[in-house]
Amino acid sequence: MARAYRGTILHSLTPRHVVFLPQGWLVVEADRIAGVYSDSEFSASQRRACEVVDRDGCLILPGLVDAHLHIPQIDVIGIESENLIDWLQDHIFEEEMANSEPEIARDRAQRTFDGLLRSGTTSCAAFSSSHTLATDIAFEEASRAGIRAIIGKVLMNREAPAALLQEARPALDETADLIKKWSGHDDGRLDVAITPRFGISCTDDLLQGAGELAHSSGCPVQTHLSENKGELAAIAELFPQRRDYTDVYDHAGLLRPRCILAHCIHLSDDELQRMSNAEAAAVYCPDSNFFLHSGRFPLQRALDNDVTVALGSDVGAGTSFSLFEAMKMGNYMQTEQVDPNLLLYLATLGGAYALGWGDRIGNFATGKEADFIVLDPEQVLRGMEIVEENQRKLLSILIHRGHAATVREVYVRGSRLFG
Ligand code: GUN
Ligand code: ZN
Repeated sequence: MARAYRGTILHSLTPRHVVFLPQGWLVVEADRIAGVYSDSEFSASQRRACEVVDRDGCLILPGLVDAHLHIPQIDVIGIESENLIDWLQDHIFEEEMANSEPEIARDRAQRTFDGLLRSGTTSCAAFSSSHTLATDIAFEEASRAGIRAIIGKVLMNREAPAALLQEARPALDETADLIKKWSGHDDGRLDVAITPRFGISCTDDLLQGAGELAHSSGCPVQTHLSENKGELAAIAELFPQRRDYTDVYDHAGLLRPRCILAHCIHLSDDELQRMSNAEAAAVYCPDSNFFLHSGRFPLQRALDNDVTVALGSDVGAGTSFSLFEAMKMGNYMQTEQVDPNLLLYLATLGGAYALGWGDRIGNFATGKEADFIVLDPEQVLRGMEIVEENQRKLLSILIHRGHAATVREVYVRGSRLFG
């Protein structure tokens, strides 16, 4: 029997258009969205044909999509350094080395997926470490947790401690093994990302091999692009024959649909245009950019150039699993006020498109898989009338004080995973 969830429904149709049903119904048939209705549209006979789940007073939103984070960095959140490169060398590489211990890798993966789900995130694109076993373990834990996840073994063959480096051929072969085992697992709930860390950690050979594997497998790609000025200078030295940072990835065949590029801060319009033409996506990670003083993501220019934009926590440079926090920071990091409707889009449908799952999740279009969250906004919306005219106000409050709204229940494919 279908289930009908009664509550206040919000979901995005486009970057600026949010559907708001103050008294709404979300109907879920098995694992899919069967429809959303306002109270007056949802007839008594329809109601009788469903099991009613009354969440009156609660908000019902699509599950949030975190398009960029690092599983092995969960315990170094908040430890500062002067800039990205120092931070990697001072804290991160050493922390990632401990992922060679299977129990440590498993514990970190469990806590990461648990932390994401509790925060209302139902899908993520995550970096593991360069260890194949730790990455395999991360897949096991994502499979068990029920979260929708794209995970990658980090590829790096230079400029880090030897324990994290691996020659290009075995690193790519082991990625191919992970693809055989996990890509498309559980009807496409899990996928493997080809994950060169960034240009500094990878020789051109490794990047070329990664591009070939992306082409032959059709798997997503994730990496970092243009986060920090020092990084840009190093890239210019390491790849003098490439016209800019974007060209380093483009030349290797990595700039393609389902290429998920974290940060994308210091980019020319020409680079944004190439990303857009290639259907690659940019992930805005405002908390991380703030923390590492990396610079400001050119949100408006990215949108003007028709680049798909998503939102990322970037834990551990980001300090929170909550995408409500990322939406808030996403506003604060810009010089102009950002439309709350756009922020919700970035955290849901924009993320779904970036991960290549725009036809499956991200909003409540009929036929999509039923990933949704139920929020109890009592603490933050006290006294506000839940009516059409207050939609933008309500969303603004939710974004700026969302951390105080309780995530009450979290569903993936209609199954409750939390609450
Ligand atoms: N660039 C290369 N590696 C990393 C990382 O682990 N975190 C961030 N924020 N940027 C990176
Ligand atoms: Zn990152």
